[in-house]
Amino acid sequence: MRDYLLVFINGQEHRLKGTDAFKTLSNFLRQGLNATGTKVVCEEGDCGACTVLVGRYSNGEITYHPINSCIQFLYQLDCSHVVTIEGLTGDGQLNPVQEQMVKGHGAQCGFCTPGFVVSMCGLFEHKQEVDRQDVKDALTGNLCRCTGYEPIVEAALRVDGSEIVKLRKAYPSQNMIQAFAAHEQVPVLIEFDGKTMFSPTDIDSAVKFKSRHPSAMIVSGATDIGVSCNKKGLNPPVLLNLSNVSGLDDLSVEDGVLVVEARVSLARLEEFSTIHLPELQRILWTFGGPAIKQIGTLVGNIANGSPIADTLPWLFVMDGQVELTGAKGTRFVKVSSLYQGYKSLDISSDEIITRVLISMPKTSEILKLYKVSRRRNLDIAVLTVAILMRRVNQTIESIRVAYGGVAPVVLRLPRTEEFLTGKEFCLESFRQAGKVVRQEILPITDVRGSQEFRYQLAENILQKFYWETQCDKELICL
Ligand SMILES: Cc1cc2nc3c(=O)[nH]c(=O)nc-3n(C[C@H](O)[C@H](O)[C@H](O)COP(=O)(O)OP(=O)(O)OC[C@H]3O[C@@H](n4cnc5c(N)ncnc54)[C@H](O)[C@@H]3O)c2cc1C
Ligand code: FES
Ligand code: FES
Repeated sequence: MRDYLLVFINGQEHRLKGTDAFKTLSNFLRQGLNATGTKVVCEEGDCGACTVLVGRYSNGEITYHPINSCIQFLYQLDCSHVVTIEGLTGDGQLNPVQEQMVKGHGAQCGFCTPGFVVSMCGLFEHKQEVDRQDVKDALTGNLCRCTGYEPIVEAALRVDGSEIVKLRKAYPSQNMIQAFAAHEQVPVLIEFDGKTMFSPTDIDSAVKFKSRHPSAMIVSGATDIGVSCNKKGLNPPVLLNLSNVSGLDDLSVEDGVLVVEARVSLARLEEFSTIHLPELQRILWTFGGPAIKQIGTLVGNIANGSPIADTLPWLFVMDGQVELTGAKGTRFVKVSSLYQGYKSLDISSDEIITRVLISMPKTSEILKLYKVSRRRNLDIAVLTVAILMRRVNQTIESIRVAYGGVAPVVLRLPRTEEFLTGKEFCLESFRQAGKVVRQEILPITDVRGSQEFRYQLAENILQKFYWETQCDKELICL
């Protein structure tokens, strides 16, 4: 057992103990190391001013991705290499991204600028040539309130990617890889000032710890937990951190069932969906920004239990199940039966979600997912919907409908489904079904929309589904 974390920051080794282990990375950088190039603005993962690159070892090399350091705790960064804005210019010269930002007037107050530069460098770490869409996607999680985005995007487009020195070259990785190898199989237990953090390396130890500490908060990506700590005063005394657990990284399709293990990031799921489930990719593309998807997980989205979590309607219509591993073994629960009330889940205090199993749509089925939000990317949904339909000629043979944002939990709509089953596939059927939807939901008014707005959206979206699918001839079973 270790009582310290091993983290490299801009190539320097740090062994962190005690109170440091519980700090956010941004606070540690700014207050502990005086590395104030990393800015903190929103402190909730929304603006990207605090973006840094984090390198983790896998498949023989260290690979770097952007994260929001304001909602990432040091205990999550054990055995990783953090590169901040200061670490991108090892020789004291501006790097090609910074040069183009200066030349193109990509900054005014400069507060957002380090975050933009880090995100762009993250992009060039993986691609030598980029187009406008690549740049926009990479900068989705970075907000600027004075320059305007055009000069920033233009600056990125003018960068000659071949001039960028990749971080794996700038920071010789051999000593880091050796240090990680010597540490990553050793669990970490840090106790300080009434707080405990345990990072196990296997599932059994994680479950045993959870049985002994039923109130321990499980931490996956901390994209929800970090916001609650920073903004809602959450301060869990006992933490069970899953970052170092091995055997939870698999993402595969077996016999028409998609299996997503607990440590699979949303970014990996999005990449996988691009080929295997484009409808899900469309929704994940709008989910947070790259830095959120890099660390956030599907299990976290499920366990957080928000009725407007983007993935839930999909899991409801595709019969998603969670595998819960606890002291008495494993059990499977349908995601649609998991929620007993607002953020109240059927998970025992000793249980951990280890895997999610989701049916893939059959070739005879049409799956459509919708997220309505005020802003397309990086926004919380007003309404989420999933519809899975099988149509034979002009008849709706079967249909499943799930709505989020219309009740304290996500809902399957059995009366709407019953109404539509066997009906003619025509606009009128969906128009009438919209009236049935209204009887099955009870939305509230909040900052994102009024109750009546949500009722109307809920009704109209069925017609949108009709218009979008009427031409899907290849999916009609003849
Ligand atoms: C800027 C920003 C943008 C966001 N955008 C979106 C969005 O577009 N759509 C959306 O749906 N959400 C969004 N979120 C919310 C969040 O990113 C997601 O809910 C994410 O999936 C949470 O995953 P995580 O791994 O970070 O969970 P964590 O924060 O680590 O955990 C969330 C909850 O799940 C529990 N938990 C975690 N792992 C397990 C496990 N293995 N077993 C049991 N319980 C577990 C934790 O104890 C906690 O209660 C956003 C958040 C931020 C900060
Ligand atoms: S300070 Fe805004 S994302 Fe971290
Ligand atoms: S330059 Fe001021 S916020 Fe971007």
